[in-house]
Amino acid sequence: MSKVLYIKANPNPEEKSFSAVVGRIFLNYYLKEKPGDEVIELDLYEMNIPFIDRDVLSGWEKLRQGSGFEDFALGEMLKLTIINKLAEQFIQADKYIFVSPLWNLGIPALLKAYVDAVCIVDKSFKYAEEGPVGLLKDKKAIHIQARSGVFSRGVTKDCELGDRYIRTILNFMGVQVADSVIIESVHQTPGQIDDIKTRAMEQAREASIIFAK
Ligand SMILES: Cc1cc2nc3c(=O)[nH]c(=O)nc-3n(C[C@H](O)[C@H](O)[C@H](O)COP(=O)(O)O)c2cc1C
Repeated sequence: MSKVLYIKANPNPEEKSFSAVVGRIFLNYYLKEKPGDEVIELDLYEMNIPFIDRDVLSGWEKLRQGSGFEDFALGEMLKLTIINKLAEQFIQADKYIFVSPLWNLGIPALLKAYVDAVCIVDKSFKYAEEGPVGLLKDKKAIHIQARSGVFSRGVTKDCELGDRYIRTILNFMGVQVADSVIIESVHQTPGQIDDIKTRAMEQAREASIIFAK
């Protein structure tokens, strides 16, 4: 039995989000393959995820110097407690399903805040002599992303930094990353929206079967 983190990074409710609709379909298909798996859903826009700010940096500095929580200011303690919990939860999980929109060629800021909370030196990766080494072994991830334009080909191909970032940072932490499910061109070609949705659902079904293996 695997522990699956389903990470939704979209303030829109599910019915108003292409990525969330396809993400839900993916999860339902996945659970048909793996009914016994435990799924924990994180709706990042309903959570209080700290950004790395002065409190977080000074809290980390105090930890490095060996201070206990009794030496922490309230802000440092509250923010580091949340970050530590998120990191522990991430490390304990076996599989990750990331669901996000493409925003300004990248990921939503709250998803970056989440990555910053879970990508922690000596927990999820370490620096060795040969360079950085991912510590999250035997784990799998997939990213489901919706975007208005077309970035899979043509002149915009190299401009997409959202899916590329998620895949790269997960790899960096040692996670095995499956092919992403991308729903693209959703506003560029409104006449083809039904075809796009049908294709995305089929892609989600196929990807879920591979992800369950
Ligand atoms: C703030 C913002 C920035 C966006 N930036 C891009 C972009 O860079 N490229 C793109 O193709 N679509 C962009 N879009 C459009 C979204 O990717 C598109 O609406 C997509 O369907 C969002 O995913 P969702 O339907 O799951 O919410 C942007 C939308 C918003 C609100």
